[in-house]
Amino acid sequence: MNAVIRGTGVYVPPKVLTNEALSQMVDTSDTWIRERTGVTRRHIAENETTVFMAAEAAKAAIRDAGILPEEIDLIVVATGSSNVIFPCTACEVQREVGAVQAACFDLNAACTGFLFAYNTACSYLQSGFCRCALVIGAESLSHLVDWQDRSTCILFGDGAGAAVVCGEDGPDVAAVMHSDGRLGDALVCETCHQKNWQEKTQATLLRMDGRSVFQFAVKKVPEVVEEVLEKAKLSKDEITYYILHQANQRIVESVAKRLGEPVGKFPMNLSEYGNTSSASIPILLDELKKSGQLKKGQRLVLAGFGAGLSWGASVLTWG
Ligand code: UT7
Repeated sequence: MNAVIRGTGVYVPPKVLTNEALSQMVDTSDTWIRERTGVTRRHIAENETTVFMAAEAAKAAIRDAGILPEEIDLIVVATGSSNVIFPCTACEVQREVGAVQAACFDLNAACTGFLFAYNTACSYLQSGFCRCALVIGAESLSHLVDWQDRSTCILFGDGAGAAVVCGEDGPDVAAVMHSDGRLGDALVCETCHQKNWQEKTQATLLRMDGRSVFQFAVKKVPEVVEEVLEKAKLSKDEITYYILHQANQRIVESVAKRLGEPVGKFPMNLSEYGNTSSASIPILLDELKKSGQLKKGQRLVLAGFGAGLSWGASVLTWG
């Protein structure tokens, strides 16, 4: 069973925070941020909630797919920063879009979230449990970032991306997922849903050992791409684009180099959005689709990494 992306959609908040504006808030500069990360601007939610952004992206993806909401039988939302714990974000989206036949749940794998949610949906499609899934990555990391910590607040942005994925006859999906909880301390955000949390507000903010995460990403992402290509029995020549989680331009360039592939096969949009965590891959997919760069039959590799630590990849054929 092949899984085909029938439609995509995004919601990105209109409010923009430029590097210049950030350098008025913390000790940094536009030059440092652009040279070390590739980010120029990021979009920040004002009144929009994670649920709102997820639902708007979902409506756009359903329109783009040309299906009825009732045809969707699974909704998986990848998020680590929702405004709701329960009902889950996916159920809130269901209510907004009218996908009354769908089973709904959220999945938290941080920045690897969309990749894990997509792979989860594909295995549900492959097992015959469902026929048409809505997979969403939605984040409001601006609420979790410490706006006094220049090493993290410059990186992240808010937004949501969605994909309608349907099962079709064809080659089985090739997917790989990994986690290593022993490395979890490198990127942490505790919840406030614990006893005496008011005394621990600092702990509820995102903390990252940037260098460790960087080194982890540039080693593990090429490895997992090679692993998924071997599983799919495909060579790199047969891949049109590698759609990587958009965390840092230097990470993407380093992955391209380690794979021996031209960087032109690694589209990027993090200059505009920063790192939108689980939303980055579907936002990039939507941009490529809308700009006409994706053609039927092309093979794409999706690859993500993030807190957990976790990482994974998937090969898909554009339908
Ligand atoms: O979605 C997955 C999650 N995250 C990631 O993928 C992040 C992976 N890591 C990174 O992208 C990079 O490690 C960062 C962009 C976070 C940092 O870049 P770096 O090149 O690894 O910098 P560094 O942490 O080694 O710091 C170098 C210097 C330090 O100063 P000293 O100690 O050399 O004097 C930092 O204090 O840069 C300083 N620095 C800054 N300077 C200006 C750190 N942040 C900033 C800043 N502006 N915003």
